[in-house]
Amino acid sequence: MSVIELTINDRSVRSDIESRVHLGDFLRDTHNLTGTHLGCEHGVCGACTVLVDGEPVRSCITFAVACDQQKVRTIEGFDDDELMKRLRRAFSIHHGLQCGYCTPGMLITARDIVRRFPDADEARIRLELSGNLCRCTGYMGIVAAISAVLRELKENPIADVPAAREIVSDATASAPAFETFAAAPAAVPQAPVAASAASKDQPATQRKGWTAIDDSFVVPFPLEKVWRFMGDLPSVTSCLPGAELVEHDGESVKGKIAIKFGPMSANFAGAARLERDDAAHRAVMRGAGQDNISRSRANGDVTYALSSEAQGAQTRVAVTLEYMLQGPLAQFSRSGLVKDFVRRMIADFGARITAQLGGNAAPEASASASSAKFNAGSLVWSVIWGRIRQLFGKGG
Ligand code: FES
Ligand code: FES
Repeated sequence: MSVIELTINDRSVRSDIESRVHLGDFLRDTHNLTGTHLGCEHGVCGACTVLVDGEPVRSCITFAVACDQQKVRTIEGFDDDELMKRLRRAFSIHHGLQCGYCTPGMLITARDIVRRFPDADEARIRLELSGNLCRCTGYMGIVAAISAVLRELKENPIADVPAAREIVSDATASAPAFETFAAAPAAVPQAPVAASAASKDQPATQRKGWTAIDDSFVVPFPLEKVWRFMGDLPSVTSCLPGAELVEHDGESVKGKIAIKFGPMSANFAGAARLERDDAAHRAVMRGAGQDNISRSRANGDVTYALSSEAQGAQTRVAVTLEYMLQGPLAQFSRSGLVKDFVRRMIADFGARITAQLGGNAAPEASASASSAKFNAGSLVWSVIWGRIRQLFGKGG
């Protein structure tokens, strides 16, 4: 049990809760705030969206204990909010709801869209809404309602909305200086930027906001051969589906990676540096990138350590992926489903390395072409299927 103190809808709250309780259950069961709906409880549908310190967050994949000392705002906390009043009215006029199950999450996301994108057109609204699912309306009414509020704001502004946009853009600008290639072609970080630079030698578990995933795979080749291959950045990149190496200079690289996970789609562009310890057969790739569409930013360290097995006939590659996401995609970073998904990616990466070292083209090596996007559909389904099997006691 943990004691947490937080503010919910401007009310100070102190609670003794089990660490495993997620914010959605905490709000509904402990505080009777049942306006927060739970749909998938996997971070996919967006029905449970609330604000935590002003940012939309999926309460089903956010532990309540992680909200200690933070400000939570649920749909019940917007009664006096002028922007929310306009959105509620517009949803009603434009038939933006039927059963209403998705509506609390939709309204909170819609308010965030209106605040961040004053000139959003229909395509932008649909893109920003893509993390909120509605099984009834077909989205037409919801999009029309948001468009109507944006138009109304131009004719009849609300005083605090421009200020809020200011805060949002300032927060983006003052966040760690992740550079995209388009914005700053010469920017290869000398070290991982702000958040990781100060604490790069700390394990991720001790770095606030970082998530760590450990896994390993075995490659049926001798250690020195694998080590040489792992130092060849173009070859390694070609084993990572969706990844594209834009340029590399010695141990510094610039690249992109496109990932689609359920309704979320991201194209991260960034720079990284490889630090190799030949004696220990250990390397760390430290990088940072930004997805310009969602404005999410990522810091990541991939550590791999090689060890010989089976009398030198094969090599185990132990991989530790440590990452921190900021921005709208951050709400996915800790979900168990995403962790499983990353583990499958690591296993897939190992299979591709084995294929390349064996002289076979990696099955989807061409996925590194710039147009390719790593549509993780089959991986996602295998992960979900694994979960279902676990639930019904058939192993994973
Ligand atoms: S309940 Fe579906 S995202 Fe939380
Ligand atoms: S109105 Fe029914 S799920 Fe959206």
